[in-house]
Amino acid sequence: MRIKQLYEDFVEISLETCTSPSAGTGNLARIYTFEQLKSINGNVISMAMGSGNPTNFVNFHQGDFVVDIGCGIGMDCFLASKIVGPNGFVLGIDITSQIINFAHSEMKKMNAKNLYFINGDMQLLPIKSEIVDVVMGNFSLSCLPQPESIFPEIFRVLKQGASVCISDMILNSSDQNEKKPSLIWPFSVANIFDADLYISSLKKAGFCEISIHELGTIQINQGRIQSITISGKKPIQ
Ligand SMILES: C[S@@+](CC[C@H](N)C(=O)[O-])C[C@H]1O[C@@H](n2cnc3c(N)ncnc32)[C@H](O)[C@@H]1O
Repeated sequence: MRIKQLYEDFVEISLETCTSPSAGTGNLARIYTFEQLKSINGNVISMAMGSGNPTNFVNFHQGDFVVDIGCGIGMDCFLASKIVGPNGFVLGIDITSQIINFAHSEMKKMNAKNLYFINGDMQLLPIKSEIVDVVMGNFSLSCLPQPESIFPEIFRVLKQGASVCISDMILNSSDQNEKKPSLIWPFSVANIFDADLYISSLKKAGFCEISIHELGTIQINQGRIQSITISGKKPIQ
């Protein structure tokens, strides 16, 4: 509940100023290509809070059903919706109702027809089993009290052979000068994984073909955080 309240307060302030903590740090220009940024409305870009870009590392196909967990304003949803085309569908899920309302109004402005946003908890996806082609999450798992608990739920909704791609912050215990992530980014105060725990949690949930695509650094407020973008596949039985 604490995370939900923090985001509700944050969104109220951000909607007034139309800036997220990532804005102005140079992260977005590093994460997204110029073409990607050019294709999205400025309001969405200024409210994007990603730590990476899962859309760069997933093989989307026309007609795919894509789910973005903790979608925020929907930056990655808008990008994915362009790739999956009119026969595909992208569903963004976020626990903060204000941000979902804002995403809806941006969706209408962009006239995006293959995209929808719902207010809900990613830990209990309101989605039937084995119907999703891609689940992505960008800087949202670290909001959960137990981020690893989400992987079985993601596994459940994915079709066999389908992919999950997650970007989030990670702990890098070797860097003594690194500030504690919770001091820099107060919304993800829960559990922050190291890269090994991501890999073992994905494996434990049943995923195969696990790949780390990117290990990077993102700048937030006054500090740096290590980030990871990692994917896995649900095996074909
Ligand atoms: C750092 S923001 C990232 C938003 C978005 N993925 C992006 O790249 O801009 C984290 C988001 O996760 C959402 N969130 C936190 N806990 C959640 C939960 N249990 N279920 C769904 N969304 C959640 C927050 O409301 C917030 O919008």
